[in-house]
Amino acid sequence: MEIIIKDTYDEMCRSAAKIVAKTLNCKPDAVLGLATGSTPLALYKELVRLHQEDGLDFSQVTTFNLDEYVGLRRDNPQSYHYFMHENLFKHVNIPRQNIHIPSGTTDNYEAFCRWYEEQIVQCGGIDLQILGIGSDGHIAFNEPTSSLGSRTRIKTLARQTIEDNARFFDKPEDVPIYAITMGVGTILEANKILLLAAGKNKAQAVAAAIEGPITSMITASALQLHREVICFLDREAASQLKLVDYYDWIESQRPGAPSQAPAPHFSKLRQLRSEVR
Ligand code: PGA
Repeated sequence: MEIIIKDTYDEMCRSAAKIVAKTLNCKPDAVLGLATGSTPLALYKELVRLHQEDGLDFSQVTTFNLDEYVGLRRDNPQSYHYFMHENLFKHVNIPRQNIHIPSGTTDNYEAFCRWYEEQIVQCGGIDLQILGIGSDGHIAFNEPTSSLGSRTRIKTLARQTIEDNARFFDKPEDVPIYAITMGVGTILEANKILLLAAGKNKAQAVAAAIEGPITSMITASALQLHREVICFLDREAASQLKLVDYYDWIESQRPGAPSQAPAPHFSKLRQLRSEVR
């Protein structure tokens, strides 16, 4: 895992947006896995800016969203369909037919989940998956004790998640109890993953996911098994990590960063990093 800590939320999202833009510039028909929630908002804002001001092209992009609430129609302002439309899709040139979001209103969830998984495979798999993390350590709606091999399915939301997400609804009772979500196993098949986390209320989950044991109690910890995960954190979200100094030091050694001379045994690492960026 690569851990990149930025002083502010906006800075963190701009850095993550650069990786998305680079992916699209290298592979214009990339398949993106997208997340909802407060965390990726500034990332989407920056992607919209890059599209409008710098011509970042989404015309060949395909997208798959992680999850949707069961029972909410796509025109419900609390649905993730609505969120994605308002915050990204209506501002960029992704063809409508290339957008995939789990249905919260299908009459056959089992068949829909199977179809969703098949669509991901048919599109060549997800090149770059964007993730947030819940305060209970979930990725997508894979709540504690979700199988680390799970696939797209219906999940019952944890109480913590319902409480956390109540802020988007008029009343806590309005938060749906069920969601349709990609599984941990589905997510781990993405080629590359960006995990974003901001704010103090994420610090404990972030520390457990990055530095704790791999456990279904913190489904984000399964990302430790993936070969290419970049975690973008703000200072608050990073505040309970034990190795913050080490992660900062690695960052300071990046080519072009204002820093002291690198330790000789890191020169190879620096060379490799400059090749992949
Ligand atoms: P948030 O949600 O970005 O709204 O904090 C993240 C998540 O639950 O995955």
